[in-house]
Amino acid sequence: MRLQGQIAWITGAAQGLGEALAYRFAQEGCAGLALSDIQSEKLDAVAAAIQRQYPACSALCLPCDVRCEDAVAQTVQRIAHQLGRLDILVANAGVIHSAELTEMSLEQWQWQLEVNLTGYFLCAREAAKLMKPQGKGVIIQINSKSGLKGSYKNCAYAASKFGGIGLTQSIAMDLAPYGIRVNAVCPGNLLDSPMWQETLFTQYAHKWGLPEEAIRRYYEAQVPLGRGCTYDDVCNLVVFLASDEASYITGEAYRVAGGQL
Ligand SMILES: NC(=O)c1ccc[n+]([C@@H]2O[C@H](COP(=O)([O-])OP(=O)(O)OC[C@H]3O[C@@H](n4cnc5c(N)ncnc54)[C@H](O)[C@@H]3O)[C@@H](O)[C@H]2O)c1
Repeated sequence: MRLQGQIAWITGAAQGLGEALAYRFAQEGCAGLALSDIQSEKLDAVAAAIQRQYPACSALCLPCDVRCEDAVAQTVQRIAHQLGRLDILVANAGVIHSAELTEMSLEQWQWQLEVNLTGYFLCAREAAKLMKPQGKGVIIQINSKSGLKGSYKNCAYAASKFGGIGLTQSIAMDLAPYGIRVNAVCPGNLLDSPMWQETLFTQYAHKWGLPEEAIRRYYEAQVPLGRGCTYDDVCNLVVFLASDEASYITGEAYRVAGGQL
């Protein structure tokens, strides 16, 4: 119960890591959860299931495209109106499309930059407007190990995530005088996530010229601890950073990648 009574907003919460974070935050005692995504039906089901399992936690389904300035501002207004305040933002919504530089279309480039970087900027900016008068708050971006080291045939994703580190470090300084901490968490490969299961195993089989069934072992072999990253691995660090135990930590980016650089 390390987040007892807290109000949190999680983007990209309809599936994958965002959904896992939402469950974990409810389990850790959050009093209110604002959940956003563009997949509104799935999001609604996640919010309803959490509400049933954790009746003490108000789980709101607030569909929102993080690229849209007006939608993000309206979502924060709804959080203020319905939950009264905002203690924690987890900017988790993210997308990836793997392609070699000369095959990366401008459209694919812009999509990844807009969701992964501009989306984070808009959510952090609007959340900070609510947090500043409170004199307290936590912003956590779900980044990637590709935000700290270049990634083969992933230039747009890596550029968007590198940008997220610069944004994290900079706004940590802007917001420190208001008691708001900003950090990034950089997971390794969540091999059981929909991102991998639905797209990356196929994209990476193409990228490395390997059969799809060989990809999992190929990626596990690059990790000193010998396995893929799990939702729990990431949630453990996010909960710590969101809690008061991390009250002297801001402007940092931490890998959760089993030793993989
Ligand atoms: N899966 C991995 O291996 C991995 C590794 C490192 C970092 N990450 C990061 O973790 C985060 C979550 O990834 P995941 O694996 O759960 O992926 P996912 O694709 O399962 O989930 C991402 C969610 O974001 C939502 N989303 C996409 N565009 C959006 C938009 N414009 N506005 C609002 N929501 C939008 C999607 O609908 C989806 O529900 C991402 O930021 C990703 O970059 C993932």
